[in-house]
Amino acid sequence: MLSGLLVDLVPFTREWYQEKMHAYWNNESRLWATMGECMPISRASIARIVEERARGRERGYSGVHFMMRTKDGVTIGSIGLNWVDYHSRCGYLGAWIGEEDYWGGGYGTDALLLLVEYAFDWLDLRRLALGTMALNVRAQRNVEKCGFRLEGRERQATLVNGEWVDALTYGMLREEWPGREALVERLGLREKAARRYASQEE
Ligand SMILES: CC(C)(COP(=O)(O)OP(=O)(O)OC[C@H]1O[C@@H](n2cnc3c(N)ncnc32)[C@H](O)[C@@H]1OP(=O)(O)O)[C@@H](O)C(=O)NCCC(=O)NCCS
Repeated sequence: MLSGLLVDLVPFTREWYQEKMHAYWNNESRLWATMGECMPISRASIARIVEERARGRERGYSGVHFMMRTKDGVTIGSIGLNWVDYHSRCGYLGAWIGEEDYWGGGYGTDALLLLVEYAFDWLDLRRLALGTMALNVRAQRNVEKCGFRLEGRERQATLVNGEWVDALTYGMLREEWPGREALVERLGLREKAARRYASQEE
């Protein structure tokens, strides 16, 4: 488990596979997380995806994923390295908060800082990258404030609600990473967490 200020990154639970995945793959978060997909998906299809992923792991799939859980125990999404190239020591990230009420509250930033620290300090990667779409300004702000740089724009790369939208790629090299603690300070995450959990106790 990786312990943050607003969230912890923890192993997946049975509830995740049986309830959360189905909910998140059928709500608006899917469109943002997948750059435009929004077809309904059945429980049987979700079960097949889970099975395929398990088979991938048996065959040596290199990804590492965590469930995102708030400090007061609410499961809100997932984050991870979708795949890792251990030859070049590069990791490709993805994050998905499936609970709309938790968007824009700093949870994704706290989770991303934990994951980046894990990737550089524990997995000894030297480069991280991720993709999002031009419409997803929340994700862009999220990754930019954590130190990722815009590296590429693929024009009209994805179809979202019938419109062509550009895809953006972001990257960060290990030498550009100021460290989690420095970013926690710079972004005022400790204060944000104190406010968030204090207001709940009132
Ligand atoms: C992308 C995601 C992981 C970010 O996590 P988050 O907890 O919502 O992000 P944070 O609150 O830490 O940061 C988002 C920033 O964008 C800002 N923001 C939110 N909505 C915005 C909008 N419509 N326009 C501009 N900025 C916006 C927030 O104010 C915040 O910036 P600030 O801290 O400077 O105020 C999360 O929103 C999510 O999973 N969304 C659905 C799926 C998705 O988009 N996945 C990512 C695919 S690449």
